[in-house]
Amino acid sequence: MTFENLITEQKDVVCIITINRPDKLNALNIKTIQEIGMAVSNAEKNDSVRAIIITGAGTKAFVAGADISEFNSFSESEGADMSKKGHDVFNSIEKNSKPIIAAINGFALGGGCELAMSCYLRIASTQAKFGQPEVKLGLIPGYGGTQRLPLLIGRSKALELLMTADMINAEEALRLGLVNYVTDPDALLSKSLEIANKISQLAPVAIAGIIRSVNAFYDKNTAGFDKEIQEFGKCFITEDFIEGTQAFLEKRKANFKGK
Ligand code: COA
Repeated sequence: MTFENLITEQKDVVCIITINRPDKLNALNIKTIQEIGMAVSNAEKNDSVRAIIITGAGTKAFVAGADISEFNSFSESEGADMSKKGHDVFNSIEKNSKPIIAAINGFALGGGCELAMSCYLRIASTQAKFGQPEVKLGLIPGYGGTQRLPLLIGRSKALELLMTADMINAEEALRLGLVNYVTDPDALLSKSLEIANKISQLAPVAIAGIIRSVNAFYDKNTAGFDKEIQEFGKCFITEDFIEGTQAFLEKRKANFKGK
């Protein structure tokens, strides 16, 4: 199957999904999110695939977030709908029966950090940068970031990153437990393939059982995800959102009024 914004290839038993909009730093427009959902579903159903790697095209970005130019004029319900559809795709990654590894080659911001966090493992190149800068746009994360970031790095540091929009580098991400390994950029794919192949040689039924069991612990409380969708939608009718997204597109600093 061919995609508009993805490249998929299979290396032995590993399916590699590359998000391919490098001139927009692989920003996730709605079409790309849909395609990621389809590509992951195809790989899950394909018996010759035992593990999946998700990465970004080019040397600069894994994914620099949701596509700001696409959603800047959305209504509250369109914003909430966009968030819900992203949640569905990212949940299909987080609950996939096959291991999914994010190979993070550059900026993993906003939806990019959220995509990486929905994967089972994260391997970062030394060039990777992580952050949830939505607050600079008058927004909150809309693809699970308010839930998965505290889970991975703890509530206090997560709140700091969510509220300051600060970016952290790969070493800091490793220290915080946000990523499993950091490699040289040239070794990123080989390290990701090495881990994918190691898992692929072990018993697939048991791997799927491990995934279901670990996920069962976290499945108990989905209220936070629902709250995030609702709060994300609410941001779209604020003046701060209009100012934040306009400022980004006009390449200037936003001036927020709290309205
Ligand atoms: N949505 C849409 N377009 C994006 C984008 C996004 N999230 N992130 C980057 N782009 C586009 C830029 O508009 C620019 O397009 P142009 O060449 O047509 O002007 C291109 O990608 C290159 O980005 P640019 O900002 O010029 O690169 P930079 O090296 O100066 O800065 C970033 C890199 C990642 C710091 C900066 O692009 C950025 O802050 N992106 C938005 C991050 C964000 O807020 N993500 C959360 C979205 S909800």
